[in-house]
Amino acid sequence: MSDGVSLDESGFKSVVSTFPTGITVVTTVRDGEPVGLTVSSFTSVSLNPPLVLFCIDRRSDSLVAFQIGTEVVINVLASDQSDIAHRFANDRMERFAPGVLEDSNGDSRGKLPTIDGVAATVAGTVVNEYDGGDHVIFLIGVEKAWCCDKEPLLYARSRIHVRPWSRWLEGE
Ligand SMILES: Cc1cc2nc3c(=O)[nH]c(=O)nc-3n(C[C@H](O)[C@H](O)[C@H](O)COP(=O)(O)O)c2cc1C
Repeated sequence: MSDGVSLDESGFKSVVSTFPTGITVVTTVRDGEPVGLTVSSFTSVSLNPPLVLFCIDRRSDSLVAFQIGTEVVINVLASDQSDIAHRFANDRMERFAPGVLEDSNGDSRGKLPTIDGVAATVAGTVVNEYDGGDHVIFLIGVEKAWCCDKEPLLYARSRIHVRPWSRWLEGE
């Protein structure tokens, strides 16, 4: 076993980023307008009752939109959606461009934003929030969840991996 890295921010990040995750876009509505950001800190917590969590950085502009009672959608991105992951991590004005949401031809104002073409969708309500240091941990009571026949986008070592996971498993 190595002696380990010092626990400075970048050393710690390089260690925890070896743990692969998927990538989600967490959405809600605030004052009738859609809000959403890219989030990899999504984790399932409990099967009965169904609970999941995600964490939001205290510096995030979207943080004010999330509190106990907020309805949220966790859009689990598919392997061909790295552009959506970048879009919801960058300029806020560009995030809900035409074609990003399901049903984007209809009037989506005020509706919970669901992203088109995802691998899975989890919808629920924030039932609790906890101090998570420089992040806030949101616990979500899941009300609906469904998945599609698409492979998830993967994130590890601070990189988005667009290659479908079945090809990783086959060792290609
Ligand atoms: C792959 C990826 C994963 C991310 N995961 C998280 C996360 O779990 N929590 C978080 O607060 N920000 C995360 N971010 C960063 C936010 O998406 C980014 O800071 C975004 O601009 C925040 O938007 P806002 O300031 O409008 O809220 C992630 C970004 C990327 C590219």
